[in-house]
Amino acid sequence: MLDDYLKANLQSWDEAVGLHVDSELYDVAGFKAGTTSLSEIELGELGLFVGEGTTLLHLQCHFGLDTLSWARKGAVVTGVDFSGEGIRTARSLAREVGLTKRATFVQSDVESLPDKLSGSFDVVFTSWGALIWLGDLERWAEVVDHFLKPGGVLYIAEFHPYAFLLADDATPESLRIGYPYFMYGVPQRFDEDGDYADPQAKTEHTVTFEWLHGFGEIIDPLLRRGLRLDFLHELPYTVPGLPFSFLEKDDRGMLRVKRHHDDFPLTFTLKLTKEAR
Ligand SMILES: C[S@@+](CC[C@H](N)C(=O)[O-])C[C@H]1O[C@@H](n2cnc3c(N)ncnc32)[C@H](O)[C@@H]1O
Repeated sequence: MLDDYLKANLQSWDEAVGLHVDSELYDVAGFKAGTTSLSEIELGELGLFVGEGTTLLHLQCHFGLDTLSWARKGAVVTGVDFSGEGIRTARSLAREVGLTKRATFVQSDVESLPDKLSGSFDVVFTSWGALIWLGDLERWAEVVDHFLKPGGVLYIAEFHPYAFLLADDATPESLRIGYPYFMYGVPQRFDEDGDYADPQAKTEHTVTFEWLHGFGEIIDPLLRRGLRLDFLHELPYTVPGLPFSFLEKDDRGMLRVKRHHDDFPLTFTLKLTKEAR
C-alpha cells in the first residue's frame, strides 16, 4: 500500500515528467541527437566500470535519460521509477533512439522492487536528487544489496546534504541554516508551486514530502549489510538542477555557491562494492 507521503510525491512526480521533457534543463532534443545526459562526474568515476554488456540497475530513473545514456555506452540497463508517466516516457524514448534491446523499464517504488524484478546486476546506480524521496534507507540498502551481484558496485552521485540545509532566502553574504540536518525519520512537508526545471510553472500537485539524509544515515545501512566502502568524495560544485538563488554557473556549466566557489560542498559521490562472499 502506498502511504500518504508516497502518494503525494507520486502525483507531483507524474506531473513533473511532462514539464521536464519540454525543459531546457533536460535537453531531450540534444539527447535524441546523440549527446549524453550524464555529467563529467559520474562519467569520470563510474564510466570506468561500465562497458559492453555491463548490467546496470538505475534506481529512480525518472524518464530514463541517464539510464539510456549508460546503454549508449554499452551497458544492458534496467531503469526503475514509481512514476507511470516517467516509465511510459522512458520506454517511448528507448524506442525512438533504438535502444529497446538493451533497456528495460520497470514501474515500482524502490521498497517493493524485489517483488517486481528478478536478477542481479554488476552496477546499481542512483543520482541527483533521488535519496531525498526515500524515507527508509534501511530498506533501500536491503534492496540495493539484494540486486547487487557479488563483486558488483553501488555508485551514487548526489547533492550534498549541506546544500539542503540552507534557508530558502540564504544569500552569498549570509548562508543561513534553514532546515535541520537530523530529521529522525520525519519528512519535511513542502507546498510550493513551480518546479526546479521551470520555476515559473503553475503546477497542480504542489505538496511533497522529503527527507534530508546525513552521511551516517546513507552509509551505515550499506556497511551493516557488508558492502565495502571504496570512496566518498565531496565536491564544491554540482550539476544544474538545484533552484537556489545563492548558486551560479561556473565556466564549465557547473553550479557553485556565489562568492564561495571553492569552499562550500555541493556534491558527494560514493562507491561501495559487494565483496564476493
Ligand atoms: C530528481 S529525480 C532523480 C533524478 C534523475 N537522476 C534524473 O534523471 O533526473 C527523482 C526520481 O525519484 C522518483 N521517486 C521518488 N520516490 C520514489 C520511490 N519511493 N520509488 C521509486 N521512485 C521514486 C521520482 O519519480 C523521480 O523520477
